[in-house]
Amino acid sequence: MSDASVAPGLGWPVTGGDVANGDATGEGRSGLGWPLVRKTTEPADTPPNLEREESVSTGDGAAQRTSNSVAGTASDLGDFTMSGPLADLDTPIAREAAVALMAVGRRTAPMPKPAGTRVMVVANQKGGVGKTTTTVNLAAALAVSGLRVLVIDLDPQGNASTALGIDHHAEIPSIYDVIVDETPISDVIQKVEEFDGLWCVPATIDLAGAEIELVSLVARESRMRRALDQHLATDGVAYDYVLIDCPPSLGLLTVNALVGGDEVLIPIQCEYYALEGLSQLLKNIDMVRAHLNRDLAVSTIMLTMYDGRTRLAAQVADEVRQHFGDTVLRTTIPRSVRISEAPSYGQTVMTYDAASSGALSYLEAAREIAERGANSETVQGESIHG
Ligand SMILES: Nc1ncnc2c1ncn2[C@@H]1O[C@H](COP(=O)(O)OP(=O)(O)OP(=O)(O)O)[C@@H](O)[C@H]1O
Ligand SMILES: [Mg+2]
Repeated sequence: MSDASVAPGLGWPVTGGDVANGDATGEGRSGLGWPLVRKTTEPADTPPNLEREESVSTGDGAAQRTSNSVAGTASDLGDFTMSGPLADLDTPIAREAAVALMAVGRRTAPMPKPAGTRVMVVANQKGGVGKTTTTVNLAAALAVSGLRVLVIDLDPQGNASTALGIDHHAEIPSIYDVIVDETPISDVIQKVEEFDGLWCVPATIDLAGAEIELVSLVARESRMRRALDQHLATDGVAYDYVLIDCPPSLGLLTVNALVGGDEVLIPIQCEYYALEGLSQLLKNIDMVRAHLNRDLAVSTIMLTMYDGRTRLAAQVADEVRQHFGDTVLRTTIPRSVRISEAPSYGQTVMTYDAASSGALSYLEAAREIAERGANSETVQGESIHG
């Protein structure tokens, strides 16, 4: 596509053909990751129809809504349609139980393991786009599917720690100690209850000062990388994924995450303004790649808070897909009350309401990421830790 077809009103960067060391034409997007292997499933211009839906577990028509909510994300979700096994269930409760069981069945279906640990940085300096929600729910989805996942909360707000039910009051050893005082990660890590394979390095409010304290420290941009490399090499836990939740800024904390990671996952909210600032983020990623971490790739763009009732959401999603092609996950995360309620119970949506469209879509997104990783030479090759 040409730049002329990019709607400037949606806040697109007007940077010509070169975006993040790739280009806006859809060809040669090497800097955006996944350059070597293209998935040959669905074309990127058929966004999944993830309708707004709170839970699939209530009343008549629930199964139909589920069917709508996941249609197009994966053919194997066809079981959720009224023509599938649910067709014979004539009471809402029976259907509810069946839907929940199917969801649980999908939860436990194993996902492909990557060749080594994939360190994914969830970044977007725009606030409230779903970074934390994506980090914790993806992590939970990968963990319930049999993978071992470490979440590093790198945001002084500590939202990821809260959502995982991890204590992160001021005295708790945290990522601050790791980055500023060189405390080993193994001394601050906490196990997330309810999950066999999920751990968290919490963030406390101390981290708010780290941005300033880091300025005068040695190797200020690569302190996270050192700590993580040391943890992965010597502490004996063979993680499949490390997900780093960044704060909404492009400061030293985010730079530390970008230097410490292999891949960047950018959540984009399907709203007006969502794309503003994206060129700045991509420029920063380019700079980190040029000077500090040459293997860094933007491997994944995820559309979040998609509201199927609005034309704007569809328009934003279309533009992002045209611009970034296969980097964008086919699975779109719907706007869902269940997703937004879960953190107030110290839970991810995977445990809060496993049969909701939010949980299913994060599960599907996790599967897509896992399958891409298993198929991609980029991820299995040089750019991977371990
Ligand atoms: N799919 C969704 N449906 C409904 N609400 C959502 C969804 N994703 C995120 N939210 C809500 O939107 C708000 C912002 O999400 P979140 O905290 O994940 O964004 P963030 O990018 O991490 O924010 P910050 O930049 O402050 O760290 C939260 O209240 C969250 O519960
Ligand atoms: Mg956040």
